[in-house]
Amino acid sequence: MRIAISTGGGDAPGLNAVIRAVVLSAHQRGWQCLGIRRGYDGLYRRGGRFTFAYAKPYGGQDRRRGEPRGGLMHLGPDQVRGITHLGGTILGTTNRGNPFHWPTRMPDGSTKEIDRSDELVEAFREHQLDALVAIGGDGSLTIAHDLWKKGIPVVGVPKTIDNDVVGTEATFGFDTAVSTATDALDKLHTTAESHDRVMVVELMGRYAGWIALHSGLSGSADVILIPEIPFDIDKVCEKIRARELAGRNFSIVVVAEGARPADGRVALLEAAKTGSVERLGGIASQVAAAITEKTGKETRSLVLGHLQRGGSPTTFDRLLALRFGSAAVRAIAEGDFGSVVVYTPPTVSRRPISDIMGKQKLVPLDSGIILTARNLGVSFGD
Ligand code: F6P
Repeated sequence: MRIAISTGGGDAPGLNAVIRAVVLSAHQRGWQCLGIRRGYDGLYRRGGRFTFAYAKPYGGQDRRRGEPRGGLMHLGPDQVRGITHLGGTILGTTNRGNPFHWPTRMPDGSTKEIDRSDELVEAFREHQLDALVAIGGDGSLTIAHDLWKKGIPVVGVPKTIDNDVVGTEATFGFDTAVSTATDALDKLHTTAESHDRVMVVELMGRYAGWIALHSGLSGSADVILIPEIPFDIDKVCEKIRARELAGRNFSIVVVAEGARPADGRVALLEAAKTGSVERLGGIASQVAAAITEKTGKETRSLVLGHLQRGGSPTTFDRLLALRFGSAAVRAIAEGDFGSVVVYTPPTVSRRPISDIMGKQKLVPLDSGIILTARNLGVSFGD
């Protein structure tokens, strides 16, 4: 058995732990693993030839030195030693690598999306690969499903800090992102209180409010704005004024990047264009400006940004990632292709990829966490 592994979309803490679990579980069975560099990019020919990346063991500052960016990478126990706790992915990743919509530079300088999936299937066969473990979020799992339809034996592993993949209680990376965000909120409290300021913090999550909700409640935010509950800025200001009246002269407002006012739109840094999706961002500075205007309070905003994607995975994320990786190899052993491993506590089980792709797991409005926050006096701006 020769198993290919790819990591696609934005990185998330725990990717390396999945890779390690796949490689070691496969090795136990006497199977080989090959890592595809940068999503599916590594499977494409360069100058008419396939390339192989330098397969030295990972770790230390010089891990990428001398390695070509593309190609395939032989992965054995030596190459995955000591990577469970490392953020990022040793394979590299990209969110512009959809083989069905490959952004390609045209002779006139424009960029067009080309379907290069046949080339990929051909490369898969030429390399005599028997199975693909595709680790990614909704976009990457949809690609995995389409590749399976084209005959590639695929098993998916759900990944994203956003926790918005349906059918799984959690994706790895989420717990680490929440922990980073909570830590940031703890730090902001002291400076907000010292200066009698309002601090508005923008957190990631795309169209779902999981990161904002979990870290906002754990980090004692006074206001939490999430995409699932469009907000009214006057209600946000009411909460800030009520705190002032109670002698609390500072406030912490957590706003998910996908949150929007009831009468407004999602804030965008960049509209969708060929080969890439829209980039959310900018809502924190809008909310901060409105709070200053309406309350006269000194307000500062910050965007926590990609810090949420970095760092060492938490114990929870390491365990989940390791469990996902070994479950993916068991799925291959049982020939259960076109499936994705999911966390259905207390077990890791499987579902058809088609059941979960193209959908988003949003925070349910009757969520116990929303209820708890409301009981504690947190405002959702509604
Ligand atoms: O999906 C993960 C995520 O970090 C989102 O929370 C965020 O909107 C997006 O990726 C950022 O993507 P990029 O790394 O392309 O800026």
